[in-house]
Amino acid sequence: MIEIPLSLIAALRNARHVAVLTGAGVSAESNIPTFRDAMTGLWSQYRPEELATPEAFAANPKLVWDWYQWRRELVSKASPNPGHKALAELEKWVPQMTLITQNVDSLHQRAGSKDVVELHGNISRVKCAHCHRIVNDWEEREDAPPPCPDENCAGLLRPDVVWFGESLPPETLHRSMEAARNCNIFFSIGTSAVVQPAASLIYLTMQENEPTVEINIQPTAQSGQVEYALCGPAGEILPKLLEEAFLKENGH
Ligand code: OAD
Repeated sequence: MIEIPLSLIAALRNARHVAVLTGAGVSAESNIPTFRDAMTGLWSQYRPEELATPEAFAANPKLVWDWYQWRRELVSKASPNPGHKALAELEKWVPQMTLITQNVDSLHQRAGSKDVVELHGNISRVKCAHCHRIVNDWEEREDAPPPCPDENCAGLLRPDVVWFGESLPPETLHRSMEAARNCNIFFSIGTSAVVQPAASLIYLTMQENEPTVEINIQPTAQSGQVEYALCGPAGEILPKLLEEAFLKENGH
């Protein structure tokens, strides 16, 4: 089991504001495949980067809709893992925490995190690709995604997630940048740190000379830049970090 440096434990204990960025690796232990894992089964001939784009949806809306339906089903069967739960618990021990996620699976919320900043949207929400209204009820069709319920709109429904080439919701991005600038410690957990602008948030914390931490099962391009690079599964390291920083001290 990985050793957690004492100076990191002290920095976490003393932090007034903790910012956390999570990626698909945090949900990997809940059996949700990450984006850069090779896809399996039915989807093995595609790459997620080729399906999660407006161009892919325009070219083959049914394919993209079905892929998200498949992911939605995986998500609905999944449960939060010890990593999600440790982050929800951490919120109770620190004065302020901003949990920013690139994940669209609601597993942080289901673990009990109260205020999650969803940078890339949420797979359980569906909107019209044309007029952008959120739609709660729809009926599946054989040959295409369901149509927009507004009869004056000719749009098709799509998941309310951010695709490659699309902008992030400005308020959400603003909140994330503010948190990265103002926090006393920044954690980047289970993300390959290649998708922008999420991958650059950590540099805002570095500019303020506050400590940064990466938790990943393998090195990333940022491992050499962070103050602490912890190599291992989030579902093991996060509970240990919580235990050593707070629970042990308080007799739990
Ligand atoms: P990726 O699939 O790019 O990266 C997942 C990362 O998690 C990798 O660096 C793995 O090494 C790491 N990992 C896997 N299992 C882990 C575990 N148990 N504990 C810790 N780390 C683990 O996923 P993201 O970085 O989240 O965007 O991808 C970013 C964005 O690209 C996604 O939000 C999505 C995707 O395309 C959009 O759809 C817009």
